[in-house]
Amino acid sequence: MIICSFTDYEYLLDTLKPAVQKGDFEVRRFANNELFISLRTPVRMDHCLILGSIAPPDERLLSLALLAHTLKKEGARKVTAFLPYLAYDRQDKEKPGESLAIAWVGSLLQAAGVDEVCTIDVHSERDKQLFPIPLLSTFPARIFANAIGEHHLIDATIVAPDNGAIPRCKSVNAALGRPTSDVPYLEKRRGEMGIRHTKMHGNAGPRAVIIDDILDTGATLISACDNLLQSGTSEIFIMVTHGLFTGSDWRKLWSLKVNRIFCMDTIPPAKDVLDESRITIVSVGQLLKEQIAQLNADAAIH
Ligand code: R5P
Repeated sequence: MIICSFTDYEYLLDTLKPAVQKGDFEVRRFANNELFISLRTPVRMDHCLILGSIAPPDERLLSLALLAHTLKKEGARKVTAFLPYLAYDRQDKEKPGESLAIAWVGSLLQAAGVDEVCTIDVHSERDKQLFPIPLLSTFPARIFANAIGEHHLIDATIVAPDNGAIPRCKSVNAALGRPTSDVPYLEKRRGEMGIRHTKMHGNAGPRAVIIDDILDTGATLISACDNLLQSGTSEIFIMVTHGLFTGSDWRKLWSLKVNRIFCMDTIPPAKDVLDESRITIVSVGQLLKEQIAQLNADAAIH
């Protein structure tokens, strides 16, 4: 297996060796700004992995598609895109007159030569149905459970910030050896005034760990924390798979009794996030290694 990693994801490469051989390529632009790939590693009949992202800036999506095309043109047998964070996966709802971006992204990758996509904690099961090629997603339940153990949060209740997050919370409870039924969750409404949590189902108790897939602007978690505090919780921890940390509003979380935010390194962390002492970044390197071992095992069977 040959892995072609975009430079911003090279921090994950060390964990993945020696299961994969590093492929050498370069992305450049011509004087007129057109993208151009030069591949220096022979790939004929090889299974190639691309490690990177399709999140904005849009250049990432175009570069990844052009690299997949180049790998296939050079004779790669199979191309698997390893996208630890699958951008566009929240655009999975059919609404009249609006784009269904995740389906479009899937078709674009397929047309470029990608045979399958491996990701971590895809937003919804619907994404898998809308994708025209296999979309394999692993939820990092064990990583969340380990962090709960290491940070002495065993007595804290796991809470879902909306009903979409309940399966995630159940998986973490299962990894902790706890009962998986009756996860306390908040009812979330999206209105003209933005996100609002209207009701708490179940009892979170004094210490809560909120688990979600994405922290983007923080609006969802700010509203969830507000509601939890009103319901009597006095200490909150947040665990998300993908820390986007867009803008600065998410910093309001610190004034809402949030003690610590945990996120994975599925997105290269920005400097201000790395510098924040109350954010713990946990590596998904081991999880990616296991996904690669699984791909190898599948290939040996077929
Ligand atoms: C929504 O369904 C997702 O699971 C996240 O809760 C949400 O997209 C996070 O975005 P933000 O931080 O901007 O509220």
